[in-house]
Amino acid sequence: MTTDFTQITLIVNALRISYVVFIVILLTWFSYDKLNWFDYEKSASGDNVVSFNGHPLCMSLAWIVLMSEGIVAWRYYEGNLGLSHGLAKSIHTSLQYSAVLIMSIGLAIIFKNHGDKNINHMYSAHSWMGMFVVGAMVFQILLATYAFLFTKYERFKMRVLVWHRYGGLVIYLGGIATICMGFQEKQGWISCSDGSNYCPEKIIPAVLTVNALLVAMLASAVFIHEEDPMSTVAVGEKITLLTNAVITT
Ligand code: HEM
Repeated sequence: MTTDFTQITLIVNALRISYVVFIVILLTWFSYDKLNWFDYEKSASGDNVVSFNGHPLCMSLAWIVLMSEGIVAWRYYEGNLGLSHGLAKSIHTSLQYSAVLIMSIGLAIIFKNHGDKNINHMYSAHSWMGMFVVGAMVFQILLATYAFLFTKYERFKMRVLVWHRYGGLVIYLGGIATICMGFQEKQGWISCSDGSNYCPEKIIPAVLTVNALLVAMLASAVFIHEEDPMSTVAVGEKITLLTNAVITT
């Protein structure tokens, strides 16, 4: 089995560029007057309330940056850079734990912001889906920690590994979908000064949604490349893909 390291490096670099661009666009969006950067908001009684913007920033750092990097850690650090399995495991685990920490701060911010402004909690599809993926993520990380760091039962580890790999990818993609819904939710609250639907403040969430999707596609591509032996088989040029023909080279 041969592996195309150049291809993986290319995709991982594209992934990194995409998430850096995402964070830059997000911060640019916050800098518009209507988004108020990270300035305090006001409650009905005039008290200072923590800025809403901390929520999308923390959730994006957790899901778009840290988890994406965590997902490709095995392939990139162990497969490409040749780091030991133990070191790649530590990098993967640290990235996922950091994601949970930052994600918890992001959730605390939005619950505090809503609480102080007397806004009902958990009224949207975004918030329900968000709590579901967060719950799944926390369960996933606790199970993995127990199975891979604290037990020696190989059969149990093997069983958890299958769920961990595929479950992890699905939870990650669920989080990206939640992020896209969050931008749509926020977009609905923004009105353009000229009464149209076309101003940067309103369009940027759409750009960020597509950018988030691109990040998810690139991270999934690295993950699937790791699994798929098709790309590593020496397939002759004339063989038509998507047939059951026996491959003879
Ligand atoms: C995976 C990442 C995310 C999760 C798990 C998540 C979760 C949540 C939760 C649980 C709430 C409800 C808080 C409450 O009931 O008081 C909420 C609210 C909100 N979030 Fe997110 N969020 C995520 C990312 C984002 C992003 C990137 C945005 C982009 C702007 C966003 C925009 C909003 C908005 C506008 C609200 C207020 C309206 C509502 O309650 O739905 N969220 N989020």
